[in-house]
Amino acid sequence: VDQTYIMVKPDGVQRGLVGEIISRFEKKGFKLIGLKLFQCSKELAEEHYKDLKQKSFFPKLIDYITSGPVVSMAWEGVGVVASARKLIGATDPLQAEPGTIRGDLAVQTGRNVVHGSDSPENGKREIALWFKEGELCDWIPVQAPWLRE
Ligand code: GTP
Ligand code: MG
Repeated sequence: VDQTYIMVKPDGVQRGLVGEIISRFEKKGFKLIGLKLFQCSKELAEEHYKDLKQKSFFPKLIDYITSGPVVSMAWEGVGVVASARKLIGATDPLQAEPGTIRGDLAVQTGRNVVHGSDSPENGKREIALWFKEGELCDWIPVQAPWLRE
């Protein structure tokens, strides 16, 4: 089953959007398997965004992600990676559709409130990066039979 790493970035935490953002994934019907408030180190931020190391905005991105606590989440479900990206919306919040998290709640790429893994492989990689063993829960939600036939 697919897993994705979702993170409320420091601006989302500071703006009091944690509950709103968690709620979008919860209501959709995915399963929460990990959740914590976390101050990340520069090293972890750089490892997480290592594919963007050559970009001119990389130093600003690392400053942004380490500027305050983030809320780390692991979500599980068939198709969760691509679906979460749709719920999140385009990288630039001004281009993101209304109804998406960024489309509804943000105005600038450098403050786009939430992260979502871009592939199932990266979902697994990022969950392993941000969570320790023992921090994830395997459980059976009571609503399961009402979500899938
Ligand atoms: P994530 O879910 O955070 O990975 O965003 P994304 O997959 O929609 O975009 P991408 O992985 O290409 O970029 C990662 C993050 O870097 C973005 O979400 C932004 O926070 C930041 N970023 C990307 N492009 C720019 C840019 O041109 N300027 C600035 N300041 N930040 C950028
Ligand atoms: Mg990305």
